[in-house]
Formats: sequence, structure tokens, C-alpha cells
Amino acid sequence: MQVPHPFPYQGSKRTVARHILPFVPRDVSRLVEPFCGSAAISIAAASRNIARHFWLNDIDPALMNLWSWIIDRPDALASEYERLWNEQHPHRKDFFFRIRDEFNSSRQPPHLLYLLARIVKGSIRYSSQGMFNQSPDNRRSGMRPATMRKSVSRVSGLLRQRSELSSLDFREVLSSLKQTDLAYLDPPYQGTSFARDHRYYAGVAYDDLVDALSYLNDMRISYILSYDGRTGSKNHGKSLPSYLALTQRHIHAGRSSQATLLGKDSLTVESLYLSPALTQRLRDTAYEPDSANFTQRALV
Ligand SMILES: C[S@@+](CC[C@H](N)C(=O)[O-])C[C@H]1O[C@@H](n2cnc3c(N)ncnc32)[C@H](O)[C@@H]1O
Repeated sequence: MQVPHPFPYQGSKRTVARHILPFVPRDVSRLVEPFCGSAAISIAAASRNIARHFWLNDIDPALMNLWSWIIDRPDALASEYERLWNEQHPHRKDFFFRIRDEFNSSRQPPHLLYLLARIVKGSIRYSSQGMFNQSPDNRRSGMRPATMRKSVSRVSGLLRQRSELSSLDFREVLSSLKQTDLAYLDPPYQGTSFARDHRYYAGVAYDDLVDALSYLNDMRISYILSYDGRTGSKNHGKSLPSYLALTQRHIHAGRSSQATLLGKDSLTVESLYLSPALTQRLRDTAYEPDSANFTQRALV
């Protein structure tokens, strides 16, 4: 059965989740996503009975409010979405901008869901004042209400009463992790110094990320980090310092959409980094051989 996903989100790990989950040890009691976005890894893990509890966090408060409706009020959310979706015809474009204005003044979760469903590839954008400013994809109407209802209800079934939600800076989340947890880190920005990242609500500076990883290593916390990668011969992201002693793995992320648009044939290869504590834990639970075989197959 397909893993449900209620909304498209730029940078979602939905399509590569199956390559990442083999690195999650079977004894994980809580899977923590400090940069959850569309929470693709948590949903995929929950659908395969990996981890008992989930902590979803994202610095975007409106997104986390949407998550709380998806998990605790799926019917109300689906009904509101259906109302908006039906009302958009026949003036979809004008309707989108009206809902965008309403979202910017009231931050209602159903409005955000509608906007996410209507923008190109869930490429969320905010102005420096925190105003949602992405335009609609006028070729599409957005996920059909019946599909949306099914999707939010399945995600709710997977995460209800097993999840905690927050909207904090990732460092606050990391400071309360336990050794029995597994954190999956998928930060948005991999430049060398802080620059505002318009793709999301906020960005992350390289030095802050490295300091946070160093702290997690000191605390012997298990984490998987998605960081940098390669499209064809082009590398993305600054290398991480060797003193972090991370184990690097490569996964196929498929063809990049940019490359496809340009008619090029370059494949995107993503890097995963495993923390020293996780590498040890996988070894202790004799789980590493499986994941190593897996990596061999996925390696390019
Ligand atoms: C690459 S996306 C994560 C995508 C996610 N793995 C998925 O499957 O959809 C990065 C996320 O980090 C969030 N973010 C940016 N800065 C943050 C911070 N300082 N603390 C927590 N979250 C942050 C963004 O809002 C964005 O949703």
C-alpha cells in the first residue's frame, strides 16, 4: 500500500524514505524530526511500524498548526479543504490569491493546505516579513478532496496519540534528545554563512549546524543527517568537518527536476551522514550488515 502524504513539499524525502529507513535501528523508541516539513520520514516509519513515538518540529508555526489539524482534526480539515477546493472553480487563479491574503492575515491551517496543494511542487515561499508569497500553478486544481480526505485520515491514524508537535528552533529540540531517540535531520540551507533562504520560513547557518552536531556527538545521540549531494558532476554544500567522525552513505535520489527540464540525464545522489553513536548502535544490534548491503546497491 502506498505511504500517504497530505501535501507536496519542496525538499520532501517522500521518494527516498525507503532508502533512509534501513538506517533507523529497530530499538528506536522515538523518532525525532527537528526539520520535519512534510514529515515524510516519520510517516514512512510509522507506516512500517518503525519507532513507537514521533516528535515533529518545524520552525514554521503555520506548518505545525497544519500538522496538528492533520493529526487531531482530520475530518474538519478535509471538509474545509473540500469547501475551498470546490469554491475555487471557475476562477482558480483569483481564488488562490484571495485565500493567500486570508492565510496571511489569519494563518488558518485549511488555507495553508489549499495553498500547498496549488503551488508548484509545494515550493513554499515567504517574504522577509513572513508573508506567504508563492504563486499558484494554474495548470492544476490541487489534490482532489476525496484523495485528500483519505490521505489526512490515514496519516492521522498513523500518528495520533503517538506524536508530539512543536515549532521551535532545531537547537532547542536537539537539547532535549535522549540516547534512545533517533533524530533525522534534514536542514534547509547548506551554504557557508547565514543568508536568508526564501524557500522556507527560515534557514540554518552552517556553523550553527556544525556546533549542534558536535553537541549531539558529545551527548552520544543517534542521528541521521541529510546533507549535500551531487547532481551529475555538480556538488552541493560545503563539506562537514572530519572531527565530527560521521559515516557517509550515498543514496540515489532519482533524476533532478531541473535536469529533466533541461533535457539532461544527470542523476541526483544524496548523502546521508550517520552519527558515531548511531554507527555503533547499528553495529551492536547487528543491523549494519543489512544496511551496508543496501548501501552497496544504492551506491553510485
Ligand atoms: C528540507 S526541509 C525538510 C523536508 C522534510 N524532510 C520533508 O520530508 O518534507 C527543511 C525544513 O526546515 C525548516 N527549518 C528551517 N530553519 C529551521 C530551524 N532553525 N529550526 C527548525 N526548522 C527549521 C523549514 O521550515 C523546512 O520545513
